[in-house]
Amino acid sequence: MKILLTASSRHGATDEVAAVIAEQLRAAGLEVDHTRPEDVADVEGYDAFVLGSAVYMTRWTEEAVDFTRRFSSALRDHPVWAFSVGLSGLPKGKIADPYRIGPVLLSIDPEDHITFPGRFDPGVLNVRERTIARMGGATEGDFLDLEAVRAWGASVAATLCNGL
Ligand SMILES: Cc1cc2nc3c(=O)[nH]c(=O)nc-3n(C[C@H](O)[C@H](O)[C@H](O)COP(=O)(O)O)c2cc1C
Repeated sequence: MKILLTASSRHGATDEVAAVIAEQLRAAGLEVDHTRPEDVADVEGYDAFVLGSAVYMTRWTEEAVDFTRRFSSALRDHPVWAFSVGLSGLPKGKIADPYRIGPVLLSIDPEDHITFPGRFDPGVLNVRERTIARMGGATEGDFLDLEAVRAWGASVAATLCNGL
């Protein structure tokens, strides 16, 4: 089985999460291409998709949303798992609020969507980002829980290997 794992990160936390998921999928014997959404030109030949994005201002990045628009029909025709990385503890499970990650992703109806906690390191942000994050009440710190990511990646891999 060939899987496309694509994740959009501004400051690296989502990249780290995606790398752990890729590791779990590969450990289960799945073939995984891991790229950024803006670098994907073609999705021919993939059996399933894992899409992820950092959350900024309650939304997925433009690049992640654009990917879901460009490949909406392939995404509708194949199993899709989605993950977000943010700080506000968005609910796990089916997506309910179209403004959070975009109406297009809603239409894809993923098998599962999960939000992993990210990190807020003011030192790597520009003034605008820092101000917005502080106004949003973000707590400084690294909340990445790679054990939780590993567990989710393993469960996606198990579902794929067992034929959904
Ligand atoms: C300007 C700004 C806006 C943010 N907005 C949200 C938000 O709306 N919801 C949320 O859960 N996290 C929000 N966050 C937290 C980020 O999602 C978190 O820092 C995440 O780890 C970023 O991932 P990245 O390092 O892959 O870019 C925001 C962070 C910044 C700097």
